Amino acid sequence: MSKRLITNVRVVNEGAVFESDILIEDGRIARIAPEVVPDGSTEIFDATGLHMLPGMIDDQVHFREPGLTHKGDIATESAAAVAGGVTSYMDMPNVSPPTTTRTLLAEKYDLAAHRSRANYAFYLGASNDNIDQIQALNDNETCGVKVFMGASTGNLLVNNPQALRRIFSESPVPVVTHCEDTPIILANEESFRAKYGENVPMEFHPQIRSELACYKSSSLAFDLAREFNTRLHILHLTTAREMDLFSAGPAREKRITAEVCVHHLYFDQNDYRSKGTLIKCNPAIKTTRDRDALVDAVNAGKIDIIATDHAPHTWKEKKNSYFKAPAGLPLVQHALLILLELYHWGRLSLETIVEKACHAPAEVFGIKHRGYIREGYWADLVLIDLRDSYTVTKDNILYKCGWSPFYRHTFKSSVRATLVNGELVYKDGRVRDDVRGKRLEFDRKY
Ligand code: DOR
Repeated sequence: MSKRLITNVRVVNEGAVFESDILIEDGRIARIAPEVVPDGSTEIFDATGLHMLPGMIDDQVHFREPGLTHKGDIATESAAAVAGGVTSYMDMPNVSPPTTTRTLLAEKYDLAAHRSRANYAFYLGASNDNIDQIQALNDNETCGVKVFMGASTGNLLVNNPQALRRIFSESPVPVVTHCEDTPIILANEESFRAKYGENVPMEFHPQIRSELACYKSSSLAFDLAREFNTRLHILHLTTAREMDLFSAGPAREKRITAEVCVHHLYFDQNDYRSKGTLIKCNPAIKTTRDRDALVDAVNAGKIDIIATDHAPHTWKEKKNSYFKAPAGLPLVQHALLILLELYHWGRLSLETIVEKACHAPAEVFGIKHRGYIREGYWADLVLIDLRDSYTVTKDNILYKCGWSPFYRHTFKSSVRATLVNGELVYKDGRVRDDVRGKRLEFDRKY
């Protein structure tokens, strides 16, 4: 029986910050108490000066396996995840072939069992014609059904109104949506192409992938969910206007929940000048006003979850001109550090970060025994140092694509160690190669 005691740590959990010892036995949290006396077989980790958070649960990543492994793969991207304090992830279906059948879904779980350093779950991708696959899903087969209500990377657009209605009314698991209205975007692309040809300046991206395109599609998802009482989670919201759709309150009490991603809380339109296509993503990073409204909505409880939409592409692909550069940026290794910058700037509290990035994903998706620091729960934990800075260099970027929009940036905080199921998988810059995460289990209360 393996035992580890973490001593003198400041725990951030369930709205409180307190000094504690944490005893871990056989992968789970066995005791949370001001002082735990170790026996001779207990390994001790003195965490004086550090804060402990539950590991982040990222409900939106693109690890690119199978078929797009020149951009990333489960082994590399999950190693980056644990180095960043992300202990569980839910991976998207826009791979090759797209994960639109239960057989392909099962194959992804098999890959992850052998390769993933973090805990994992996979979405089934909806298409215009796979309602039979969706209907047949069992509770523990998937975290949810991903619906591209707007076209993005891959070829998974669901644009048949009847197919959409059936997905929203018949899915036995949560429906998660990418909301951008494709006809509006195509019309905007045409008018910018007429003016600038292929080399549209990057700062027009938010006018092409516009506020209206987002609002129209998010409203449609919202209305369908209301009509069919769907358990809907709308991904990566980006505009102040969309915030009017959502109400404040605890995630566990809602049928319709909302997500925002770290890059939309951090960057704004002004950053296109220095970062260009590196921060091209769908939906687009928008105005300063939008970014600030998203932060306010997180604090107000309208936004339930903060995630990454980690979407690696190669440097060469990203260095193309506007239309050719793919959308998406690698983020999973630095997401928690980005959120901690917002903490240092006084924009988010530590308690709110933990609520949105750790607790709420467990609530929204009904993940069993994770997301909180509670006795009996799996010991998915991250130790951070709020006073020790961390600079992103070529040597410490773990993404397979080898670049980060934060290259050379110095974050005010650092991730010192990460535990997944009680195993110390990351410590002081090194990811252990011999530990694998577990498949997430679901116990949905709805
Ligand atoms: O920017 C994005 N990149 N948005 C998406 O919806 C997909 C993602 C990707 O897979 O590259």
